[in-house]
Amino acid sequence: VILERLCRLLLPLSGLLATGLGALAFIQKDEARFRVAFLFGLLALALLATRRWWCVSPAPVGTSVPPATTPSASATQPTASRPRILLLNASLAGHEGNSARLLALLAPRLAPHAVLTHATLAGPQATTFAALAPALNAADAYVFATGTHWDSWSSPLQKFLEDATPAEATRLWLGKPVAVLVTEHSSGGKGVLSRLQGVLVTLGCTLPPLSGLVLSHAAQLARLHAPAGPAADDLWRPADLDIVAHNLLAAAQSARPTYRSWPVDRTAFAQPWLSP
Ligand SMILES: Cc1cc2nc3c(=O)[nH]c(=O)nc-3n(C[C@H](O)[C@H](O)[C@H](O)COP(=O)(O)O)c2cc1C
Repeated sequence: VILERLCRLLLPLSGLLATGLGALAFIQKDEARFRVAFLFGLLALALLATRRWWCVSPAPVGTSVPPATTPSASATQPTASRPRILLLNASLAGHEGNSARLLALLAPRLAPHAVLTHATLAGPQATTFAALAPALNAADAYVFATGTHWDSWSSPLQKFLEDATPAEATRLWLGKPVAVLVTEHSSGGKGVLSRLQGVLVTLGCTLPPLSGLVLSHAAQLARLHAPAGPAADDLWRPADLDIVAHNLLAAAQSARPTYRSWPVDRTAFAQPWLSP
């Protein structure tokens, strides 16, 4: 963290010094000053190139990430009053998959205004519904991310939802806003999005408007050929995460209405019921 802060400070500073000294050296035709400006320029470029390395990496499963301290956000909203958002990566590939990449794009859009917790359902840091229950209870809102697998969501997510059944319509879910992010190669993702949103609403969650999207490899390739215009505008793109983040935050920051739940069978729902 200290290294990251140092690098964050040095990057704009060396860029500014390089530009200022370079301009002075140009005006005064001072070769020594020009060399110093060149060195600061090199430092800024090196910091920029190694940014991925010194930036703090995503937090492991089930841990809280302190919100980024943008002056406006921290000035207006103290950390304690920010909503806690749980980001659930349901990828078959755990941290290696597209869902992890998508969540990594969404997280910085949420972090200045929320306290984020990350969890993954597959891979070396896989967690379960039971292990996650305290984090789910503590969360004010959720983000679910999954790939499309044979027209459905991932098998770890299916297991998670099955294990979550006894918590259906409880305070763990009731009235909590949820955003859903789906990726696919080419087809089936919209069906996954709509059905998953339906399941989450039945568990008790609420859907903010425009809080679910499908990023498709096919759409990404299409955009390479026609990057601008109304046709391209009609395809979901990573930049649409701005809207997902905004709408999820708007819902999570608002007072939650006092929703009620209907009676649900929590004990015998898995029993065989067929009789001749
Ligand atoms: C077993 C399997 C089945 C898949 N089925 C579909 C499919 O039905 N439709 C589709 O468009 N993409 C399909 N894909 C591609 C994935 O949905 C896509 O690569 C997605 O981004 C994977 O997300 P993840 O890396 O987070 O798991 C499939 C991939 C796998 C491994």
